[in-house]
Amino acid sequence: MKIAIMGAMIEEIDPFLVTDGDEPLLQFFKKHNECQYGGNLYHEATFKGHDIILAYSKIGKVNAALSASTLIEKFGAEMVLFSGVAGAVNSELKIGDLVAATQLCQHDLDITAFGHPYGYVPEGAVYVDASAKLLAIATEVAEEKNINLKHGIIATGDQFIADHEKKDWIKSTFKADALEMEGAAVAVVCDACNVPFFIMRSISDAADSDAAFDFDEFLKHSAQRSSRFIISMLDKILVKA
Ligand code: ADE
Repeated sequence: MKIAIMGAMIEEIDPFLVTDGDEPLLQFFKKHNECQYGGNLYHEATFKGHDIILAYSKIGKVNAALSASTLIEKFGAEMVLFSGVAGAVNSELKIGDLVAATQLCQHDLDITAFGHPYGYVPEGAVYVDASAKLLAIATEVAEEKNINLKHGIIATGDQFIADHEKKDWIKSTFKADALEMEGAAVAVVCDACNVPFFIMRSISDAADSDAAFDFDEFLKHSAQRSSRFIISMLDKILVKA
């Protein structure tokens, strides 16, 4: 099986590539080939005899869609695992908390002028479902490791949200628990290509007036939490998915 692991920013992918004394599993990704394609760097590695391909896309839906498509079409990825950070919409989510997306939607997709709901275009759907199998594996891993993993709806858009009103609108319109800038783009591509996907996010900020400051402060730590969770899922994925 060939598994793609992607993030949006270098800070979200770096934790998979460096060796950290506490985390021997990271060593599996140390030996890799690098390949430049479409303006992005792809790292080819192996994990227990299976191929892994790692990349960060750069921020935003278009970049994420390009990378997800490349991972599938050029590199032959049979599964896409996304790791990164998100802003909290659900007030129960605090910085560092882990959220696995059950469904993803695009909060900035708007053809309501034609009578359609927000987030909808003809022949599409407002929500794309993540792989139930991968969500079940995540739940099992969280239970075994006593990690508080939340499942929730993630709203994606090409905006960094740092405003209460906008955040409340996204919450009430899409019932979102967290928001970010890539997940739904990856979901749409994977769904179209019939490739199972899993979107993991750790909270970096609350999408409020402090969001830019908090994001800079917590990006690295939250990205690391997300990456560690993904790594801890790999063994089960190879057996069960
Ligand atoms: N990713 C992390 N925090 C975010 C925010 N506040 N808005 C958009 N994407 C984010």
